[in-house]
Amino acid sequence: MAKTITLIPGDGIGPEVTRATRTILDRSGAELEYDEQVAGVAALKSKNNPLPQETLDSIEATGVALKGPLTTPSGTGFRSINVAIRKEFDLYANVRPVETILPGGRYQDIDLVLIRENTEGLYVGVEHYIGMEGDPKAAAESVMIITRFGAERICRYAFEYAKRNGRKKVTLAHKANILKYTQGLFVEVGHKVAQDYPDIVWEDRIIDATAMQLVLNPHDFDVLVMENMFGDILSDLMAGLVGGLGFAPAANIGDDAAMFEAVHGSAPDIAGQGVANPTSLTLSACLMLEHLEQPEPAARIRSALGSVLQAAEVRTPDMGGNHGTEDFTDAVLQALD
Ligand code: NAI
Ligand code: MG
Repeated sequence: MAKTITLIPGDGIGPEVTRATRTILDRSGAELEYDEQVAGVAALKSKNNPLPQETLDSIEATGVALKGPLTTPSGTGFRSINVAIRKEFDLYANVRPVETILPGGRYQDIDLVLIRENTEGLYVGVEHYIGMEGDPKAAAESVMIITRFGAERICRYAFEYAKRNGRKKVTLAHKANILKYTQGLFVEVGHKVAQDYPDIVWEDRIIDATAMQLVLNPHDFDVLVMENMFGDILSDLMAGLVGGLGFAPAANIGDDAAMFEAVHGSAPDIAGQGVANPTSLTLSACLMLEHLEQPEPAARIRSALGSVLQAAEVRTPDMGGNHGTEDFTDAVLQALD
């Protein structure tokens, strides 16, 4: 029986990469039906609400969403709808695998997974201005929240993930030398959880040194776990190890729902031009198929993507080519047949 999922095309390049991904899914043998919903700027325009109740109800009912990127205004305007969806469904684990799929990059055979805590840290959005001497914005303050519960469940998720996927090592990256309470609690909890997994090598490292080591010696790492903002920043860095944001998928996992999306944003600079690279969202769809226990179509799509990228004949501009999204998608469809 086909599984119904919630499909949110999103903003900017969202509709372009979503269309491409859906065409590829349809040809892959995946057994899916789609309940299409809106969110973000698209929803603000059509429904006067960036996160309509119908969209939330749909995710609640299907338990699985495939989502294009959503534009979030910087500094002012509505809060991130991505963050709101993650919070609404308590999608606490943001799983971001980074694998070499584009040949000829800076590194070969990269195979890393970043597990980012998705509900706490600085991204709880508890912030305000402090007024002084007539300046209403003399200072601004943000609160970083780390709970024992939140740290424990994300560290355990990382070790369980490592165990389930035959991975050898978990690195916990943190800044407990400076943020002794918040980051200190995260590390303390990590140490405790690690004791339940004696077969998995584990280490903790300072976040800034981790960033440098990832660039110098990425093969030293395997699974990485960290709090929300550090995970946000390092996942873009890690995407850079394998050719950029166009190749980085993400799964947001909770106990009752999951949402799959690209790591990249709505790319307003290239939106509407038909040149976006759909690989990231298509790989996210593969993670979704694996989550839905449909591993065969996922494997077919990965292999088709791999062979198109290997052949290097049809590439979008971010890969140094001059083909558009449609040409690339057609090449993947041909490789699928
Ligand atoms: P971005 O990821 O949209 O773009 C960064 C750079 O990468 C741009 O030069 C863009 O053209 C390029 N790029 C990104 N994806 C690409 C693709 N698939 N193919 C080819 N090139 C690609 O980041 P930016 O510009 O900082 O953010 C734009 C908007 O997206 C913001 O409103 C931001 O809040 C939102 N955003 C949404 C996310 C989500 O929905 N999960 C995640 C990150 C950002
Ligand atoms: Mg990000």
